[in-house]
Amino acid sequence: MAQGPRQQLPIQAYTDPDWFAAEQADLFGHVWNFVCFTSDLTDAGDYRCVMAGRYPLVVLRDRDGTLRAFHNLCRHRGSRLLDGSGNAGKAIRCFYHNWTYDLGGRLVAVPQEKEQFPGLDKTCLGLKPAALAVWRNLVFVHPDPEAEPFETWLSGFGARVGPHPIEDLVEVSDVRYRCDANWKIVIENFIDGYHFFYLHPKSLGDGDFTKQHWWPAGRHWMFHRPLKPGVTHDNEMLPVIDGVDSAYGAGAYVLFPNLALYETATSWSTFHVTPVAPDRSLIDIRLLAEPSAVERLGNQTIPDEDLPDCVVSAKGLLSFHMPTDKQRHPLETDNVMLEDIYACEAVQAGMGSPAYEIGALSDFEDALPFFQRQVMDYVPSA
Ligand code: FES
Ligand SMILES: [Fe+2]
Repeated sequence: MAQGPRQQLPIQAYTDPDWFAAEQADLFGHVWNFVCFTSDLTDAGDYRCVMAGRYPLVVLRDRDGTLRAFHNLCRHRGSRLLDGSGNAGKAIRCFYHNWTYDLGGRLVAVPQEKEQFPGLDKTCLGLKPAALAVWRNLVFVHPDPEAEPFETWLSGFGARVGPHPIEDLVEVSDVRYRCDANWKIVIENFIDGYHFFYLHPKSLGDGDFTKQHWWPAGRHWMFHRPLKPGVTHDNEMLPVIDGVDSAYGAGAYVLFPNLALYETATSWSTFHVTPVAPDRSLIDIRLLAEPSAVERLGNQTIPDEDLPDCVVSAKGLLSFHMPTDKQRHPLETDNVMLEDIYACEAVQAGMGSPAYEIGALSDFEDALPFFQRQVMDYVPSA
């Protein structure tokens, strides 16, 4: 049999609840996890919760403007403190028995302290810290406050992404898709260079697939695909981003394990894949563009009835990557996301069969074993 890229992970890695649990504990609990943009946390008290594997964590902005990360657990009886995202006000009060923490995580008030907890040393019962990193305008957390520095984790990644001035861009779209597939199928689809030719001949039709290339940076994946000769961005709905060549093509990245980034001459997106179950993921896509795009687009909100079933929430100005016709088959929409979700769900469905096996991988799929080896470093024996 010819030498070439080989599937590294067993099928159980995509289907088995025990594998899923091991990944949550041993992978997501031991890496830097993406949370949000810094612009989501502008005011004192703004917070956003995230699960890092089994660890509930929260990032919030302190009164002095500092971003802080904590384990999102009350020090009284361990209840989860905050939920979702929002503004905590001047202090974080546990809903259960009103133990209260300031925005720096210090325990400042305990109801009936003198009677019930004489001699309690509140200084020992502040919120447990987690590690926090800000790279460009992206916020990451790690459950271990002594985690390896984020810069080390990046392994040179940061210096090698495109020229996009992402701190100056504005968000024009925020969409969540549900995908009935394992999170690794979604990432593997993102880094599969073979399917562009056949699944996206129109939806990514400006790309020169034969000239795509990828390269590793530590555990992370970096990719570039040029435009076909002669293709320009003149009639795009979005303006070309300042400082970026209109013939930039597409840059794509996966910050291991589950944050993909996608950039073109006119847009810059985060593509965050959250594992929900062995066969289910959420994909949150947030798209940034030149500030002038806001005016150009106007306020095009998307009516609920036009949203496809796979979208569970959406807001923003952009509708160009949203289908507006629910009646069409996903493969007839010329919509990259719907084509990809269809493919991921089809692979997951195939894996349910006892007859499932992988025949061979092409050279255009050689990033898959690279990604799979990173997973195996964390979950070797599941
Ligand atoms: S668990 Fe939070 S105050 Fe009791
Ligand atoms: Fe795709």
